[in-house]
Amino acid sequence: MDAPVARHPTPGQIALAEAIARGEQSLGTRVETISAEVYLDPRQFDAEMVRLFASVPLVLAPSALLDRTETAVAHDGYGFPLILSRDRDGTTHILANVCRHRGTRLISPEDDEPIAARRIVCPYHAWTYRSDGGLVGIPRAECFPGIESGDISLSRFASRESGGLIWYAKSAEADFSDAEAVAADFDAFDFAGHHLYRRKTHAVAANWKQVIDAFLEAYHVQRLHASTIAAFFADGITAADRIGQHQRAVVGRADYLASVDRSDWAALRRAVTFTYHLFPNTIVVISPDYINILVVMPQSVGQCLVEDFMLIPDKPETNEAEAHWRRSWDLLDGAAFAGEDFKAAELCQRGMESGLAGDVLLGTLETGIADFHKRVEAYL
Ligand code: FES
Ligand SMILES: [Fe+2]
Repeated sequence: MDAPVARHPTPGQIALAEAIARGEQSLGTRVETISAEVYLDPRQFDAEMVRLFASVPLVLAPSALLDRTETAVAHDGYGFPLILSRDRDGTTHILANVCRHRGTRLISPEDDEPIAARRIVCPYHAWTYRSDGGLVGIPRAECFPGIESGDISLSRFASRESGGLIWYAKSAEADFSDAEAVAADFDAFDFAGHHLYRRKTHAVAANWKQVIDAFLEAYHVQRLHASTIAAFFADGITAADRIGQHQRAVVGRADYLASVDRSDWAALRRAVTFTYHLFPNTIVVISPDYINILVVMPQSVGQCLVEDFMLIPDKPETNEAEAHWRRSWDLLDGAAFAGEDFKAAELCQRGMESGLAGDVLLGTLETGIADFHKRVEAYL
């Protein structure tokens, strides 16, 4: 069950692995501080929602969530009702989950799994829509003189499907160029060809930035994760660069990187772990044979939801394969992410709320956090 090897690392991915092999790490040179207020101030939270989350493209899900045509699923995580759909031609659409008749919800968010959606039928009066959002039927149409169903469709949001991820933006003017630029890296891992093994939404009682912070430094890996995943990693060996607003990092897994063929994906993925921070709120972790995508969705200043998607190369066909992936899921999603990273984020938030924490101190292994907060601030 090795990683797919048909594709090759991009020049940028190889350059970062080379940098870490030469011992060139992306370290800061001084201690930086962040005010505890950035995790506590409701006015900052409101500004983040309006100026950042409502203006830039955000990841909704991997393409593998909708692995067939004419399927749809509700998505409420960003605070308003959306539908992700794939139409009969395979194109994805992000639609308002709001009927054009009197506004009720078309697909229930309680339906966790995507539904067959050749037709999306409103439960109230049965107005009927195609999977691309176009209205195709009004019962008792004679009661709506002057209304042509062909002129009406569900509201559509700006979106892109690239690199095996589905992005959307609340603003019609959003610039998707960074989302498109990072897609080459994910195509190199063949995200779009992967199977969605599991997904789970975690409620985390922490400001959304606390969760992102936990994935922007490898300083904690040997400490917080001592009993789960620490043994797979070298201590604090990281290098990072940027693709537009997004951050790409590698963390050293083993000390034999110097002898690894950089064009051999399976070997490279055993030697280093690539992680991506898709600004502002998504983390991608590339393990040797599977991929986790964590979408952090702010709910209030001290609460967020984190949806964890685990992609694997192929659908498990045997009990043995199923047990293998189950162990990986339990280790990363359950023990490391939920049991350690999200827990640490919650405890940091409690510390901030106590008023006793003072400013946050960031060491030279944690410059990625300082950089992230500066980029958030630039929007406010
Ligand atoms: S509210 Fe949807 S058909 Fe009436
Ligand atoms: Fe961690």
